[in-house]
Amino acid sequence: MTTKIIGNVFEQLNWLKIEEELLACQKIAPCVSYPDDFSGLMRTYPLWNQSGAPKDAYLYKYEGAAQITDIGIKLSYLSNLVKNTFHLEFLKLCRLHEYTSETFFLPHRDYLDGSEEIGEIYTRMYIPVKVQEKCWNSYEEEVYDVELGDIVFHDGSLVHSVCNFSSESRFRFEFDFDPQIPWEDLFKDKSVLKLKELKSVPREPFSEEDLNNLLELAANIINCYNFKDIAVLFGKIHFQKNVNCALIYDWLEKVVEKNGNSDLLELYKKTRWHLVDRKL
Ligand SMILES: [Fe+2]
Repeated sequence: MTTKIIGNVFEQLNWLKIEEELLACQKIAPCVSYPDDFSGLMRTYPLWNQSGAPKDAYLYKYEGAAQITDIGIKLSYLSNLVKNTFHLEFLKLCRLHEYTSETFFLPHRDYLDGSEEIGEIYTRMYIPVKVQEKCWNSYEEEVYDVELGDIVFHDGSLVHSVCNFSSESRFRFEFDFDPQIPWEDLFKDKSVLKLKELKSVPREPFSEEDLNNLLELAANIINCYNFKDIAVLFGKIHFQKNVNCALIYDWLEKVVEKNGNSDLLELYKKTRWHLVDRKL
């Protein structure tokens, strides 16, 4: 199934209590996972995971249900939202992600982080629990603005990205479930389910000339030390200009080939494999 909004929990929640628990996060030691894949800072608070260890924010392929962590016990209002909304026996991982100001994820596909077996992806959903302006989610051709409490079914097989260009943190709950269970059956509280159209963010045109100017500029300055900076610069363009976020890897290839440095070419290949090609 492709990415869509399948429900909303706005009416079910006391948002003052949510705010209190998000403030309480400031006193909890967060995990920082996937540091190579983003710019800025994403803090992660695992509420349920395979081991129950609060320091492990990665996803593994495993049998059985997830264990609640000390963070999950501490953030009791958020945990109760999970317990009341979903059937916990199908849950594999539940993380609260804090995208601090200026955080941006390079366009990527999702994998099983702790395994080389990439054929199977869990069913992933997320719910924004604190939103800001200029925080968007993109999936290849589209950029979406998602609202507070929306339950988003996430298609991680598409190249996608997320950003927070506001001055404050944005928080979202992310869930991974057993992929064998039909998504409707993951819900204990089916009253939250209601399909809603995703809201596309309007963007400016992006011409062939714009692209050529960009590639020429980048080819003249790229090197092994600023490669990630150039990838981030390319990756942010699609939030403003009407272009597919997956194309940045073709742009990087052109720039690196034009530059001709063999170490840079290796770095490009490694990055592309890690972020988008592993699943192909
Ligand atoms: Fe992702």
